[in-house]
Amino acid sequence: ATQSKPVLRMLLLGKPCCGKGTLAARLSEKYDVLTISTGDLLRQHIAERTDVGRKAEGIVAAGGLLPDEMMLDLITTKLDTLKENNWILDGFPRTQRQGRMLDNLLAKHNIPLNLIVNVDVSDDLLFQWLSNRSVHLPSGRTYSTSYNPPKIPGLDDVTGEPLTKRSDDNPETFVRRLEHYYAQTSPLLYYYASRAHSTRLVDLYGDSDTVWPTLETATRESFPGVRERVLPGS
Ligand code: AP5
Repeated sequence: ATQSKPVLRMLLLGKPCCGKGTLAARLSEKYDVLTISTGDLLRQHIAERTDVGRKAEGIVAAGGLLPDEMMLDLITTKLDTLKENNWILDGFPRTQRQGRMLDNLLAKHNIPLNLIVNVDVSDDLLFQWLSNRSVHLPSGRTYSTSYNPPKIPGLDDVTGEPLTKRSDDNPETFVRRLEHYYAQTSPLLYYYASRAHSTRLVDLYGDSDTVWPTLETATRESFPGVRERVLPGS
């Protein structure tokens, strides 16, 4: 019988601003893996004033969660375009119901989730990181005045375009985002722990530099065949 080649299906879970996007970007830069961030997708829709964007704008700015069905539609469309590429999901699922929806979606494609990574950081640190963060909206690239500052203050390294502050990156809204995390997203960890026999779960604690070696090792162990990208000039 022909053996289908293993395909990376990774979830990155964790509190808001804990470094999920930073870690996903590092993996995607180094390896042949694509990242889908629902937060970035929504911010693009908001910037382009699409129907989805108009519905999402107020909810995102207030630190709320969008309806599960709306997120499922968004993610289904996106995953359909990625076919059998290796991918990482950042920001979905965010509720137990979204977790079940994703399972149903993947069952249709017959490729199960195979690596679930949970990143944890203390709430106090998150408030510090949040106040230092700015973003390049079109690409989703994230900078921090203390951790990874742009080469020229206020400008994106790649395009030279201005950086902005996200509408939900202020302490008041962040409190609401954290509350939603504890009430709705953290129960997902129990949902996945209950089937740890079939899906590898990895818990990481600390900032992106601290956890990177463990994340990289887990990725390579789970997918020995994952290809490194060829860097320009090498
Ligand atoms: P989303 O964009 O997914 O927001 P989030 O989960 O709150 O995550 P963040 O993007 O804020 O953070 P991150 O963990 O990626 O951290 P980052 O790498 O940037 O979602 C936004 C909104 O969209 C939601 O609130 C909701 O309204 C809606 N939404 C999205 N998906 C949804 C869904 N499935 N269902 C319903 N609604 C949904 O890093 C953080 C910062 O830390 C960076 O500045 C980084 O440089 C810095 N940093 C990292 N390490 C260090 C260090 N050692 N020292 C200092 N700074 C550091």
